[in-house]
Amino acid sequence: MGRPVLLPLCVLICTPASWALLCSWCKSSGPCQVEECAPGQDLCRTTVMHVWGDELEVVERGCAHAEKTNRTMSYRLGPQIISLTETVCRSNLCNRPRPGQARTFAMGRYLECISCTSSDLSCERGREQSLQCRLPREQCIEVVTHNSLEDTESSTDEHHTRGCGFLPGCPGPTGFHNNHSFHYLRCCNSTKCNRGPVIELQNLPPNGVQCYSCEGNGTHGCSSSESSLVSCRGPMDQCLQATGTKGPGNANFTLRGCSTASWCQDSHMADTFSLTHLSVSCCKGTGCNHPASDVHYRSGGAPRPGPVPLSLASTLLVTIRLWGGVLLWT
Ligand SMILES: *[C@@H]1O[C@H](CO)[C@@H](O)[C@H](O)[C@H]1NC(C)=O
Ligand SMILES: *[C@@H]1O[C@H](CO)[C@@H](O)[C@H](O)[C@H]1NC(C)=O
Ligand SMILES: *[C@@H]1O[C@H](CO)[C@@H](O)[C@H](O)[C@H]1NC(C)=O
Ligand SMILES: *[C@@H]1O[C@H](CO)[C@@H](O)[C@H](O)[C@H]1NC(C)=O
Ligand SMILES: *[C@@H]1O[C@H](CO)[C@@H](O)[C@H](O)[C@H]1NC(C)=O
Repeated sequence: MGRPVLLPLCVLICTPASWALLCSWCKSSGPCQVEECAPGQDLCRTTVMHVWGDELEVVERGCAHAEKTNRTMSYRLGPQIISLTETVCRSNLCNRPRPGQARTFAMGRYLECISCTSSDLSCERGREQSLQCRLPREQCIEVVTHNSLEDTESSTDEHHTRGCGFLPGCPGPTGFHNNHSFHYLRCCNSTKCNRGPVIELQNLPPNGVQCYSCEGNGTHGCSSSESSLVSCRGPMDQCLQATGTKGPGNANFTLRGCSTASWCQDSHMADTFSLTHLSVSCCKGTGCNHPASDVHYRSGGAPRPGPVPLSLASTLLVTIRLWGGVLLWT
């Protein structure tokens, strides 16, 4: 009688520590490979960008961190409509391509939203068009992603995006800002409710809290002398500090700034700032994220249920950025 019980137990306990999820890995072109996911990467993802008008479809597959969830987003870019979907699953090779199973993008007609994008300056110029959401659960969304340190010619394009989306950060608002970055998401669910002037940080009212702001490492960018107080705005009234590693050399990286409570979670910062080995903490009260202070931060490191806000939007936008050169400008 012991055997049927022992077997699953052994799968859990006796397997070597290196046991990892296997996912299908493929970039927009080229064949798929099998990827062994790193620790913490407990899901396989499939990210699809579909360009209506050109009938172009690009698919990426790979591993994803455990907090990822299904998400969709659509917006107008000139005469085209860009639709992004990301789905996750959690068994070996569950994201492998299945020949003959052509993707069918939803063609429904649901909520009507305002759509524009900084990629064609339609948001900045107030050239708002309407967009009919194709999925029943989608809401009208407004996404701001701005980082002056990373801005190059090509990545300034997605500062503002409005359209339809099903994003776990909804309804928001949720966001983070410091001297260099501003990330923001808000969603609503009545006809064209995302109209009006685009959200700019300087137009959000100060909320009375000041937090230390910096981006960099302990000697360049985020040392005590380089961390300065900024006035927090809008709903971003918590002081956040995040440390992690970045880039191929695993260089230490630190961020400080103002955030909504929802950003005091690892996955958010991880996605938006491409950080690993991350530890995020938040505190309430002016200056409480001082570089030298030993405050009792509210831990953000523990696994938690609940929505993981903006990251979803920003990874989709990063995906567009990666594909942008190939697809959007030709
Ligand atoms: C995510 O999407 C996939 C494919 O549509 C679906 O099979 C899965 O159940 C969805 N997961 C959740 C949590 O909705
Ligand atoms: C951050 O912004 C404030 C106000 O705009 C400015 O006084 C301060 O010098 C800036 N700090 C850094 C490190 O750029
Ligand atoms: C619309 O949004 C409001 C406020 O976020 C929420 O209370 C309501 O349940 C939403 N309705 C639908 C149909 O999603
Ligand atoms: C901090 O960053 C600078 C510039 O990016 C780099 O030259 C320096 O070696 C880094 N210092 C440490 C301790 O990682
Ligand atoms: C990063 O910081 C940790 C802890 O402060 C330190 O042990 C490590 O050597 C640092 N790594 C680099 C590349 O500077």
